[in-house]
Amino acid sequence: MKIALVLGTRPEIIKMASLIRECEIQKLDFFIIHSNQHYSENLDKIFFEELNLTTPKYNLQVGSSNHGNQTGKILIGMEEVFLKEKPTHVLTQGDTNTVLACALAASKLDIKVGHVEAGLRSYNRKMPEETNRIVTDHVSDFLFCPTNTQKIILEKEGLDQDKIHIVGNTVVDAVLQNIKIAQKQSKILEILNIQPKEFILATAHRSLNVDNKESLQNLINCLNNAANQLNLPLVYPIHPRTKKMLKNFNINPNINTKKIKLIEPLGYLDFLMLQKHAKIILTDSGGIQEEACVLKTPCITLREETERPETVEVGANIITGININKITKAILAMLNKPPIWENPYGDGTTAKQIIEIIKK
Ligand code: UD1
Ligand code: UDP
Repeated sequence: MKIALVLGTRPEIIKMASLIRECEIQKLDFFIIHSNQHYSENLDKIFFEELNLTTPKYNLQVGSSNHGNQTGKILIGMEEVFLKEKPTHVLTQGDTNTVLACALAASKLDIKVGHVEAGLRSYNRKMPEETNRIVTDHVSDFLFCPTNTQKIILEKEGLDQDKIHIVGNTVVDAVLQNIKIAQKQSKILEILNIQPKEFILATAHRSLNVDNKESLQNLINCLNNAANQLNLPLVYPIHPRTKKMLKNFNINPNINTKKIKLIEPLGYLDFLMLQKHAKIILTDSGGIQEEACVLKTPCITLREETERPETVEVGANIITGININKITKAILAMLNKPPIWENPYGDGTTAKQIIEIIKK
């Protein structure tokens, strides 16, 4: 058995970290391929350092471009590495262009593909990630679902039951392995001069929300409104896609308040600390909906739907879109109840379970 572990973006580095560690602990024959879809230090290098991850054996250095160009470059690069290294198994996580290209390249070379976080569906085909998820699931040999919800979805799509395994989500491995370290090491509350439970945390980077002037302006209005509603500072570590779009559309993030603190993307430890201590989180991120749920911080999702319905079902998350009235009501609803929901994503042993399944 020889495993290729593939990653390319910030969330993949974080969610593949426990699998890398497990391969190391078990002294398995493995290597890492980084597409370098994300390359800025604060979306890439900082996570390898903080999570103590070994440098990838291969870096495809694809960078940013349009979907076809980026996916194509990754496909070509992955195939070259697979032909040279001849792994028996490839593990890839999530729904980015890196995941799609890696799964296609491996599948055509008859290498077993394990999709970590399989079976998620937003049922919104306007999201590029939805296409990536569907195609990846359908060429995968191991479908590692976070919960029973995804198992049902995959079965309905006609996928073979024997391929489907419910293992939780490696996001819990990552949170549990790092939250104590974050609490010891992070000075982010002092640096930003904010107190626990006296700030809002926000992120947004979905193309549907930020690539269109009207949507981005709406989103910024909503964040201003939330900060004014709770009369609290709103900390917003800004994704480079959104930063670029704010500049292109000439949008000022502080419209009728001075409470928006726009900062550069943070490392994982600082960001975990902010998630743990925020009064409430407003986001369109996938991973942050899950982490907020695990950390018992109320979450509001600035999208029309979610592929993480468990977070809503347990009461940790409300879906509002970028609609001021819905967000105002959702903030009140979330803050009016105690954060005592169950974490649906497992006990932090997902990486171990995945490796055991592959070994068998
Ligand atoms: C990608 C994923 C998305 C995931 C997100 C995680 C796809 C289709 N999208 O979106 O699913 O949620 O990563 O954050 O795979 N940029 C930089 N530095 C970088 C990377 C990007 O400045 O290191 C800027 C560039 O201007 C680039 C833009 O961000 O054009 C978008 O990057 P891209 O990788 O295309 O998509 P993301 O929005 O990051
Ligand atoms: N994250 C981080 N620093 C930040 C913002 C996010 O470390 O400034 C982490 C966050 O804890 C989560 C992941 O990045 O683990 C989510 O990534 P993102 O929102 O970019 O992608 P998505 O999950 O939506 O694909």
